[in-house]
Amino acid sequence: MARIVIMSDKGPLKIETKDGDKWICQCGISKNMPYCDGAHRNTKDEEEGKVYKYNKDGTREESSE
Ligand code: FES
Repeated sequence: MARIVIMSDKGPLKIETKDGDKWICQCGISKNMPYCDGAHRNTKDEEEGKVYKYNKDGTREESSE
């Protein structure tokens, strides 16, 4: 089963815990969910009004969704 989830944030959410800061992925393309792995850097040049699809290999393509 697969699903498409549209996410628009381009950076992580910082959570302060007793074990130190944790960075939670909000862009949706981390390979270490729920934590940020830095992959959000690939979203920085996304254009407003467009929707992109990120493939498992990290490549990106514009979507018609
Ligand atoms: S916020 Fe998603 S990888 Fe950093």
